[in-house]
Amino acid sequence: MTADGLDLEPVMVASRLRINGQAYDVTLDSRTTLLDTLREHLPLTGTKKGCDHGQCGACTVLVNGRRINSCLTLAAMHEGDEIVTIEGLGTSRELHPMQAAFVERDGFQCGYCTPGQICSAVGMLAELEAGWPSHVTRDVSAPLGAVTNEEIRERMSGNLCRCAAYPNIVAAIRDAMAARP
Ligand code: FES
Ligand code: FES
Repeated sequence: MTADGLDLEPVMVASRLRINGQAYDVTLDSRTTLLDTLREHLPLTGTKKGCDHGQCGACTVLVNGRRINSCLTLAAMHEGDEIVTIEGLGTSRELHPMQAAFVERDGFQCGYCTPGQICSAVGMLAELEAGWPSHVTRDVSAPLGAVTNEEIRERMSGNLCRCAAYPNIVAAIRDAMAARP
C-alpha cells in the first residue's frame, strides 16, 4: 500500500489458455500481456517482441483466426479463445504454405520480424476472403487473384521489417495466395 492509499500488490489470475491446440494453465499477474505470457511463462518464444507498443507487428499472433498484436492484449482476456502462434501454423517437416512461400522467396534477412509477418499474412488472407476493405481497396468484389501489390502492402503495413525484405515478402504472399485451392 502506498502513502496515497493505492494498492500496488499484483492481482494474480488463473487462466486456461488454448494455444496451438494445447491447453496451458497459467496463474499470472493480471497485467501480464499475451506476448509476455508466451515468451516468459510458456516455452513459445517464436513470437517476437520488437517495440512492445503496438507499432512493429513482430508480436502478431492469431486469435480466433484474426491477427492481433499480442503486446497490446492481456493473457487473462483470452480464456476460451483459440490462439495460434508461429509454432502452431506448421511443423519443420510440414510447413504451412505461407511459411514455405517465405522460404522459397527469401522473404527475410535476419528473420526477427518473420513470425509476425507470417501470422499477419495468414490473417490478412482470411480478411481478403471475407471481403474486408482496406484504405486502398477500389473493388471489394475483386477475386483474390486480382489483389494488387499496393493492397497487400497497405494491409501488411502494420508489420515492419528493419531489413527491408518487403519486395520478397510481397512475392511470398502472392505465391501463397496463388496456391490456395
Ligand atoms: S512488439 Fe507488439 S507491435 Fe511491436
Ligand atoms: S527480416 Fe530482419 S526484421 Fe524483417
